[in-house]
Amino acid sequence: MSSIFSLSMNLTSSPMLGDIAYFILWGMLFPLLAMVSFNFLRHKQCCYEEKRKVPPGEMGFPLIGETMEFFNAQRRNQLFEKFVHPRVVKHGKVFKTRIMGSPTVIVNGAEANKFLLSNEFKLVKSSWPSSSVQLMGSDSIMEKDGERHRFLRGVIGTSLGYVGLEPLVPRLCNSVIFHLAKHWQGQEKISLYRSTKVLTFSIVFECLLGINVEPGMLDIFERVLEGVFSPAIMCPGTKFWRAKKARMEIEKMLVKVVREKRKEIEGGLQREQDGMLLSKLICGMIQGEISEKEVIDNVVLLVFAAHDTTSFAVAMTFKMLAKHPDCYGKVLQEHVAIRRNKRWGENLTLEDIKKMKYTWQVARETMRLFPPIFGSFRKAITDIEYEGFTIPKGWKVLWTTYGTHFNEEYFKDPMSFNPSRFDEGMPQYAFVPFGGGPRVCAGYQLAKLNILIFVHYVVTQYEWFLLHPDESITMDPLPFPSFGMPIKIFPKHT
Ligand code: HEM
Ligand SMILES: *[C@@H]1O[C@H](CO)[C@@H](O)[C@H](O)[C@H]1NC(C)=O
Repeated sequence: MSSIFSLSMNLTSSPMLGDIAYFILWGMLFPLLAMVSFNFLRHKQCCYEEKRKVPPGEMGFPLIGETMEFFNAQRRNQLFEKFVHPRVVKHGKVFKTRIMGSPTVIVNGAEANKFLLSNEFKLVKSSWPSSSVQLMGSDSIMEKDGERHRFLRGVIGTSLGYVGLEPLVPRLCNSVIFHLAKHWQGQEKISLYRSTKVLTFSIVFECLLGINVEPGMLDIFERVLEGVFSPAIMCPGTKFWRAKKARMEIEKMLVKVVREKRKEIEGGLQREQDGMLLSKLICGMIQGEISEKEVIDNVVLLVFAAHDTTSFAVAMTFKMLAKHPDCYGKVLQEHVAIRRNKRWGENLTLEDIKKMKYTWQVARETMRLFPPIFGSFRKAITDIEYEGFTIPKGWKVLWTTYGTHFNEEYFKDPMSFNPSRFDEGMPQYAFVPFGGGPRVCAGYQLAKLNILIFVHYVVTQYEWFLLHPDESITMDPLPFPSFGMPIKIFPKHT
């Protein structure tokens, strides 16, 4: 897997005003704050650490800590090689650092993942940057804890869990067929990453929520997503400022959709429940269990959670298929066999999906090597005792997929691409591209269907070739192929 280690800088995006503001922020504000609080913090820190054994590691400069090292490694998609791995070698699997002003403990390994992820709400809670919270909305499920979290997950889960899947399959088939007819047919060259983004967006809206996608909607949503990890600086020209404006536009649009739908349901115009997630949320609203803001914030969150993640997983799956012709041959065989038993144009069923066993192994192996989300931050809500160390209350904790995915303790010859390794079981919490515990990905089943159904229609209908076989990956902070993964396509004559 040399490609993971030979990734270059992002050459596609030029520095924007937002980035400049960002450097000014880190360059000027923090040293200033640092000077003011240096003595105070150092004093407090020493006394605390004398009493408790916090994990080993370096905190860097006050406040700014190792933020620059972290971001520089992340930008080049070398967070593992340049940041996490060297520190694991030096300090062990549990080490401390300071990122974005917060003392942070980074934990690695299946036991650590399990400990952290399954103790959500008890020892830790999710911890998102202020920009994410402001843009997703404070009432999205990522900001909810305990009972309220469980309730909203329940509502969302009825559409996204296993029972909701049966009707989703033909709808997804329809979306994929429509997408290929509209965006692939008659073309010679397309951006695969762009294509999957457009598709994933319409799948979330049309197949899951039951909202029609209007022209321009994707652009507005993407403007919001661009601000999710930018510093929350509210002055004209920054990414965050643009994102905030886009969020207001979306809110206006969604409020209109929600109120119209509510009228339809209340007026009995929509006699048969359509079974779509938006209708379920609105029924909750009518019964007084869910607020309008909760509905809107969760719609925005679902788009965010599904968008870049699924698109990256699909794009990298195709990249791996291109790089491993033997795997591609086996995948193709699987899908041709499914098609053989079908009439022309007949939709797939859940039974057909179950036959895509090897394709799902390929997709999982791809996500092992190229996790769309490398890990996520939590905050200690109490002093945590772990592996003989204390993680003090208020510190952040970061679990990573790298700690297990790239470790030969869990995956033999970890850097090689070998989908068949999933024939055998593996330790719990070793393969964690979808997280785990109470906050395990709510869209796991939808992501799986999206990937498998898209692969099915593409490999049975098209020949395709990567135009940049050695394309690098950029992280900003989610990973994407630097050039959008352009491919050449030819329709198959069958
Ligand atoms: C390949 C695609 C995807 C990957 C790799 C992925 C990964 C993840 C991960 C790692 C988490 C846990 C984050 C944490 O622990 O803080 C998560 C949470 C979540 N995901 Fe996904 N996801 C994907 C697709 C989707 C889709 C398609 C949807 C929905 C339409 C979705 C909805 C969610 C939601 C709602 C949460 C938050 C759950 C909660 O806080 O209870 N995801 N996802
Ligand atoms: C496939 O499913 C879609 C969505 O449910 C439906 O509209 C379409 O008629 C189905 N196609 C066939 C050939 O049955």
